[in-house]
Amino acid sequence: MKVVWVAYPGGPTAKEVPELLGCAENALGLKEFVRQQGHELVTTSETGPGLEPLLQDATVVIATPFWPAYITRERLAKMPNVQLLLTAGVGSDHFDLAAAAERGLTVGEVTGSNVVSVAEHVLMQVLILVRNFVPAYLDVVGGGWDIAKIAGRSHDLEGKTVGIVGMGRIGQRVALRLRPFDVRVVYYDNRRLTTAEEEVLGVRYLALDALLPVCDVISINAPLTPATDRLFDRARLARMKRGAYLVNTARGRIVDTDALVAAVKSGHLAGYAGDVWYPQPAPKDHPWRSMPNHAMTPHVSGTTLEAQRRYADGIRDCLARFFAGKPLDRDYLIVENGKFVSPSYSYAFT
Ligand code: NAI
Repeated sequence: MKVVWVAYPGGPTAKEVPELLGCAENALGLKEFVRQQGHELVTTSETGPGLEPLLQDATVVIATPFWPAYITRERLAKMPNVQLLLTAGVGSDHFDLAAAAERGLTVGEVTGSNVVSVAEHVLMQVLILVRNFVPAYLDVVGGGWDIAKIAGRSHDLEGKTVGIVGMGRIGQRVALRLRPFDVRVVYYDNRRLTTAEEEVLGVRYLALDALLPVCDVISINAPLTPATDRLFDRARLARMKRGAYLVNTARGRIVDTDALVAAVKSGHLAGYAGDVWYPQPAPKDHPWRSMPNHAMTPHVSGTTLEAQRRYADGIRDCLARFFAGKPLDRDYLIVENGKFVSPSYSYAFT
């Protein structure tokens, strides 16, 4: 069987840092394992037309959200042998899930593998925005000492209201990590937690329209599905409190690109941060790169070296089971032989 691994180019870092398992060259540390199992592993960083000849006879495709290979309906139609689509990480919207299900395929991701990594990044970016870190840092690098300009946009997080949209594994870890900051945490999810879970996390449920105007900071932590595509459109951004901050480490398409630029430029939002873009890699002229008051990074929050080890182990487990003709770990499954089984996705597709 042919397994295709599509990931970002590791360049010289691939050799210098062997723990960088998630790049194309280091192939999740699985080259020898796949060969010993009697199969072929092909690695590439091609995501454009150059990828298509490699996909033609692939049985398994492993993609990564950090350098997504968009496996569209059209591409799937040209892949007669494909049986299994895997995400090395969490968030499988780079696969056309509806088309994969129609074909009877199985789609899995390494659930939980990088949820702590993302939650830490969310906390970092919330503080970076609220404390006005980026201008302060740039002032130092530029030789300046402009206290007034920096302090004029700097706040304490304490006492603020933070909203979490999507209270799953990452959302809950963000809530727990916010506790020592003495903030009020409200959340919206299409599946409400139990009262006991809300008490343990110290969070209060609000419908989305009620949450938007009361939050000083909102963190988006829901998957990209037809239900969340551009969920934060012009109207919902306008409902947010004037001067609020938005952090999105979920998926770029959950926020309308142009509406966000307008909201940040007008000052309606005080700042935006996150690490997810559409498309990825973000083109050089992507308007979020140059809009004011942002603190964005490339898509890196879920790919610390620790996270790479965890999702590499998860992919090894998936392949071992698949080669042995066994089902994937239940927690990893999004679509099993054409049937949506993950509750985070199934409501939006079935
Ligand atoms: P999860 O499945 O544990 O939680 C997702 C939550 O979102 C669930 O509680 C689900 O009910 C909720 N949800 C689904 N549709 C919703 C809707 N329409 N409105 C409100 N809530 C909705 O997933 P996890 O691990 O917390 O990850 C969430 C997302 O974060 C992933 O799907 C992925 O897109 C993104 N992610 C980003 C990473 C990065 O490196 N930036 C790394 C890992 C995940």
